[in-house]
Amino acid sequence: MSQDLLYIFVFSNILSALALYFCAKRLLKFRRRQKRAFTFKSYPIQQCQLENVHPCFAQNHLGPNPNSAVYFIGGEGVEASLSDRETWVVAALSKYAKRIFEFGTCSGKTSHIMAMNAPKEGRVYTLTIHPSQLEQLSFENDDDRLHENIAKEEAKFDIFYYSDLSTSEKIEQIFSDSKQFDDSKFKNSFDLILIDGAHTRSYVTNDSKKAFSMLKKGGVILWHDYKPEAPDVFSYLNELARDVPLRHISGTDFVIFQRTS
Ligand SMILES: C[S@@+](CC[C@H](N)C(=O)[O-])C[C@H]1O[C@@H](n2cnc3c(N)ncnc32)[C@H](O)[C@@H]1O
Repeated sequence: MSQDLLYIFVFSNILSALALYFCAKRLLKFRRRQKRAFTFKSYPIQQCQLENVHPCFAQNHLGPNPNSAVYFIGGEGVEASLSDRETWVVAALSKYAKRIFEFGTCSGKTSHIMAMNAPKEGRVYTLTIHPSQLEQLSFENDDDRLHENIAKEEAKFDIFYYSDLSTSEKIEQIFSDSKQFDDSKFKNSFDLILIDGAHTRSYVTNDSKKAFSMLKKGGVILWHDYKPEAPDVFSYLNELARDVPLRHISGTDFVIFQRTS
């Protein structure tokens, strides 16, 4: 074999080995993610009925409790928002919440609904990344790429559903990447927190830690998109549920935590 042929032989073997190595690495990463999301039974977090979420949902003999009546707008045509049942849950809980925090504003329809239902003196703080702040986003290597892209695509709003409405007086819009958001001035201060920002592992971890620190005694955290299609949210909550009492609200993609002490 000539010297040239030998070089080509060695070089192509190195290339094949490298290609094999990177394919195996990707495959292992994919398997790890799948396992993280689906290790357990399909929806491991214990389900609870609406009646156990708040007394206003207690059914009477004719059906839903009149105390669960809310100001409501259906979700038809709204981008990346809540289902109608989820909107009802958030709206009803907002009636009993003086201070509300939302991670992820998007169109601002849910912020508007929460503000409409909150008591007169209630305030809704809603955090989102401004379209001009995309460079603040900092994803990690094992963040779900699909939801990384979705988070970027949804960061296109700077005028919101509520902007020209009277609810804007009750709403404080915060523009920031949620990892850069300083939660220290809001310790123990919110009655209701909705986590619905970037649906990747590092962001849902960051947002949840901040939510726990900002939650008042007796307050409630709701996470949206507890479902296998949002694998990082799903696996994060399944793991968190081993240490923290979480419940999956039936008929919704909400997981709820209620702080009792
Ligand atoms: C699923 S949408 C929120 C939907 C909204 N809660 C509703 O019910 O209508 C997610 C929002 O989070 C925002 N977002 C994504 N990544 C973020 C980040 N790192 N910091 C702050 N906001 C972020 C997106 O721009 C988008 O507006």
